[in-house]
Amino acid sequence: MKIDKEWVIDQIEKIACFGKGQRGITRLAFTEADIQAQEYIMSLMDQVGLVVSRDQMGNIIGRLEGGDKALPAVLTGSHLDTVPEGGKFDGVVGVVGGLAAIRRIQGMGVLNHTVELIVFVGEESSRFGFATLGSKAMVGLADTHAWSKAKDQNGVSFQQVMAQHNLNIQQIGAAARSSEQIKAFVELHIEQGQVLEKSGNTIGIVKTIAAPTRLKITVEGIAAHSGSTPMEERCDALVSAAMIILAIQEIALQQAGRGTVATVGALKVYPGSINVVPGLVEMWVDLRGVNQESIVECLQVIKDAISNITEEQDTVVAIEMISSEKPVEMNPEISKLIQKSCTDIGAPYQVIHSRAGHDAMNMSKLAPTGMIFVPSKEGISHNPDEYTGYDDIMTGIDVLTETLYQLAK
Ligand code: GLV
Ligand code: MN
Ligand code: MN
Repeated sequence: MKIDKEWVIDQIEKIACFGKGQRGITRLAFTEADIQAQEYIMSLMDQVGLVVSRDQMGNIIGRLEGGDKALPAVLTGSHLDTVPEGGKFDGVVGVVGGLAAIRRIQGMGVLNHTVELIVFVGEESSRFGFATLGSKAMVGLADTHAWSKAKDQNGVSFQQVMAQHNLNIQQIGAAARSSEQIKAFVELHIEQGQVLEKSGNTIGIVKTIAAPTRLKITVEGIAAHSGSTPMEERCDALVSAAMIILAIQEIALQQAGRGTVATVGALKVYPGSINVVPGLVEMWVDLRGVNQESIVECLQVIKDAISNITEEQDTVVAIEMISSEKPVEMNPEISKLIQKSCTDIGAPYQVIHSRAGHDAMNMSKLAPTGMIFVPSKEGISHNPDEYTGYDDIMTGIDVLTETLYQLAK
């Protein structure tokens, strides 16, 4: 199997067929399309001669055995699941690129360390509301109690989905690995921002990953007849929710200078009928940044604003913290190694922050971790128009190959 640009294009295009819809790619965690993409990658891993297995979370592990089994393994990888109507590069570049890098390393003779390609399951929070499920399980941070209550938009529980795939939620703990087994983790990913495109650099060496804080806000009003209930007598949950959304936008705008962003990305209105004043609204907020102080401040101001709005509107609000993760620093030694790979290859690079979440933020708790970014056209991501030039992807693979080789030789 010749690993060149055509091969990489071909694999990315083939994986894009799993879950392709009228708009973009919908390959939500553990859906049929996701499993098909996973099985396709497993067959490629197998063809390349990797030893392929799945852990108790369903993460795929492909091993290129090293010469000295006593040494810790060097890991790379990313995810195959997408958001609804997503693009074809988010996650996939790190999986296909990781396989390409390992295939090249294979041609360099037996290295001392084992090199592993990991396909993490459930990186996107789109299906169950929890992000990076696979890498959390691998580092021993699976919140099985909270996950066992999670359901998707169709009411299918995480527990049921696991069982469908012969996985047992009670066994997830066994997917945890120890730091002694792992020397380093390096993830190749698209930037999902415009920094590289604007600077003209091909490679971003990630310094900090902005981790998300997520809230579920439930606004309770009183459902009523939309014709016979006078305007001044209404207790409209959606009107309160709209005011909350605008307040959140305003608060995040005030923190923009510190790099903090906030989004209300999902809303459910009950009973959801044109002739009923909304009685209940559920909304989900995603708050992120690389400055923890700013995030904490933002959160407090949002809570204050919500209590003012609901008092004024006579609605009742419950705020549930779904997750609260702190920004994560990448390992300086791994970053230095990536930098040296860029210099050796002659790839223009810069240090960059990641504003999106990644499995690397969990893996950094287990092993020295680094991330390599390649440019995103116009910064577009989580959108069918997501695009990264294949020459840039190939440079990313060159840098990944050299970095993994230096770690594993
Ligand atoms: C993952 O794509 C995220 O939501 O940051
Ligand atoms: Mn994503
Ligand atoms: Mn991703």
